[in-house]
Amino acid sequence: MSQKSVIYLKDYTVPAFLVETVDLRFELDATATCVESVLRMRRNPKASPDQPLCLFGHDSLELLSLSIDGVRVPDNGWLRQDEVLRLNVSLNDTFELRCVTKINPEANTALEGLYLSDGMFCTQCEAEGFRRITFYPDRPDVMAVFTTTLIANKNQYPVLLSNGNPVAQGSDETSHWVTWQDPFPKPAYLFALVAGDLSCAEDTFTTQSGRAVKLQIYAEAKDLDKLGHAMESLKQSMRWDERVYGREYDLDIYMIVAVDFFNMGAMENKGLNIFNTSCVLAHPRTTTDAAFQRVESVVAHEYFHNWSGNRVTCRDWFQLSLKEGFTVFRDQCFSADMHSAAVKRVEDVTLLRTAQFAEDAGPMSHPVRPASFIEISNFYTLTVYEKGAEIVRMLHTLLGEKVFRQGTDLYFDRHDGQAVTTDDFVACMEAVSQRDLTQFKRWYSQAGTPRLDVVDEYNADQKTYTLRFTQSTPPTPGQTDKQPLHIPMSLALFDSTGQAIPLANGQLSQLVELTDEETIFVVKGVLEKPTPSLLRGFSAPVKLFYPYTEEQLSFLLTHETDGFARWDAGQQLAVRLLQARILKGGEVDDALPEAFVSAWQVLLERASDDPAMASLLLTLPTEAYLSEISTVIDVDAIFNARRTMRRQLAQALEAQWLTLYNEMGSEESYRPDSSEMARRSLKNTCLGYLMALDSPTYLALAEQQFSESDNMTEQFAALSTVVYSVFTDSAREMLDEFLNQWQHESLVMNQWLALQAADPKSGALSRVKALLEHPVYDSRNPNKLRAVISTFCNQNTVNFHGLDGEGYRFLADKIIELDKQNPQVASRLLTPLTRWKRYDSQRQALMRAQLQRIIESGDLSGDVYEVLSKSMA
Ligand code: PHE
Ligand code: ZN
Repeated sequence: MSQKSVIYLKDYTVPAFLVETVDLRFELDATATCVESVLRMRRNPKASPDQPLCLFGHDSLELLSLSIDGVRVPDNGWLRQDEVLRLNVSLNDTFELRCVTKINPEANTALEGLYLSDGMFCTQCEAEGFRRITFYPDRPDVMAVFTTTLIANKNQYPVLLSNGNPVAQGSDETSHWVTWQDPFPKPAYLFALVAGDLSCAEDTFTTQSGRAVKLQIYAEAKDLDKLGHAMESLKQSMRWDERVYGREYDLDIYMIVAVDFFNMGAMENKGLNIFNTSCVLAHPRTTTDAAFQRVESVVAHEYFHNWSGNRVTCRDWFQLSLKEGFTVFRDQCFSADMHSAAVKRVEDVTLLRTAQFAEDAGPMSHPVRPASFIEISNFYTLTVYEKGAEIVRMLHTLLGEKVFRQGTDLYFDRHDGQAVTTDDFVACMEAVSQRDLTQFKRWYSQAGTPRLDVVDEYNADQKTYTLRFTQSTPPTPGQTDKQPLHIPMSLALFDSTGQAIPLANGQLSQLVELTDEETIFVVKGVLEKPTPSLLRGFSAPVKLFYPYTEEQLSFLLTHETDGFARWDAGQQLAVRLLQARILKGGEVDDALPEAFVSAWQVLLERASDDPAMASLLLTLPTEAYLSEISTVIDVDAIFNARRTMRRQLAQALEAQWLTLYNEMGSEESYRPDSSEMARRSLKNTCLGYLMALDSPTYLALAEQQFSESDNMTEQFAALSTVVYSVFTDSAREMLDEFLNQWQHESLVMNQWLALQAADPKSGALSRVKALLEHPVYDSRNPNKLRAVISTFCNQNTVNFHGLDGEGYRFLADKIIELDKQNPQVASRLLTPLTRWKRYDSQRQALMRAQLQRIIESGDLSGDVYEVLSKSMA
């Protein structure tokens, strides 16, 4: 296997040379693009003076010419080794380096650097893609002013875009050119260009200081009718960042381009965001409400990066969470403000508690600020993004809104135009709050999910109530000793009438700061034994253990006013029942406890007060969550327990589900606003339960919804319930009809593929293999790969984990194939196999055998190698 070197944070040194300006000139051609780059460089006065000039350049670069101050560098004046071009010539303190490279965008299947997406040129430079374009000090702490000239055939590529403002253009008979200039110094990872036959939606935004900004969203002409929602979301984001953070946009033009081939969701390139079509296109007929919300939050996320990421960027890639954690926190708050804060919190915590906790408990577990990596692409993780956002949220909680805002003001002012660290961010929070956050910073450096055990005691004589908190963090790979963390614990105590008891601070809730291994918290003057509500709002990313009784959970489900805590009480109640059944193999026909059914009945009766929250309250804990909290994951028992309980809830409350379904029906035509989304969500939840009854009556209802609805949310929900039902003939018919209706909509076809890949009925693997041969499938497109392969391996647990081991073999085959084409995507796809330790010994052996097969398959990318070697360690 190839030897890949490990890069350590502790080895960081400042760059030996800085770049003042970059002049780029692209002669765009699908198979042979010529890139000329002229760098005004100077020796960094802060670096030791004896270092040679080193530039990064990928193996795929063909170096055509290299000169310094107009003099060609002789062949013995430079050396290329691995990804580094090292110059052995004497250099002045300032000089001009010119270099010409040739690259082949069409052959670029990794989708990093310059590549073709459906015939249009686009780039992806984060994290280290710029070195696939030209030789450059490709590291985020080298910031320069970029001027970019694009030259291309004017019929094939009528639109030529890059960062900043267009400053000059011209054309001859066949080709044309445009020069763009970005006045803001930036690291190379924020560089972008786009060239193609694109249409655009246009609008303007007037900033709070009165400047007019031109907004453009580019897409293929056929998708022009799907850009309105992204445009609205962009304007809302711009307004929100002015209002909440006092930050306004800085250039005169803001562009977004939608591309079909993209490894991730979207990219915040300065002034020229490039988006996966799945995160920008939206139309009621073709897009579900969930996808509408995703578009809104990703547009916001990339926009917010203009300050948290671009104006203030990362010193090195270990600091990735500096921009990502903070920006996720910002987009979470934005979505909370746009819709329901409680619902948003539940969704975010669900993602964290299932996927991030699982990552933290697996072989790739790493701190939010990793200490080392082989391939940085492997660290665009839930830990860096979501746990990173939780850290920022805890700072917000500890300091309060006002002081937190002072901290971000100081951060943006102090570090504007700089490349900084998470320590610099926290230092700003320390400065404004005058608090010592040294211990708090362990959240950045310590991996693993902390565990918080809580016991309580009520002393009736002294009227005191005592809570004892004990925290610990399990060992993670390479980090065995764990230190106590600074945990903000938001709590309330309820008396038996359901009223919150005033606490020592005079308030009805209190933030207790847990900094030691053990903390004792005493409340005086408590007249009866209270019910504690702990970790309200999920105030810290920990696993909470308090021996709640079922009565207490039901009580909180009824009386809690904190939306998250109330929802969680309901979930934990269901978890109890489900876990007991999972231990018995899952398929249990014991009746549901009456108290549980009546709790759900109350939820159903009150559902229309807050349909979005009700829909969450009426959804059982996911398979992913039940897996994460299992000691040994029993996929079949989890699946069966959940399905059986769903059916029992459907039976016990059949009339109520139907009433609510009808109540949530609407005569009006579609609107994509919060209240309508909530209504549709609850309606579809009801349909799901009704369909669990296997009754032709409800099949007819689903069929009717499928054919009569005027929007994808309702149509697709109806289709899903039928596909997952016992009515296989109807399912086949509806899938075909849906295919006929939407085969020209690539994003809709992704949904169609994913739905079938997730179908838990037996024989799934051969159905999945057939999908890979279907004309709507395209093995080069990451969205399609994710829709089929990733969905099957992550969501279709009973089939992927089948005891014949064929699911595992299938994934290994695909990884081996894909690693040569697109290492980033291959490496991500590998995740489910790396979690082998969580399963029974038979599955463990089968999974390990496939990991071994991948290792032995030959020359692997650094991306896949890193994940494999860590998961076999
Ligand atoms: N920086 C992007 C974001 O979070 C994610 C991304 C990383 C996109 C790497 C492409 C490549 O907004
Ligand atoms: Zn981001």
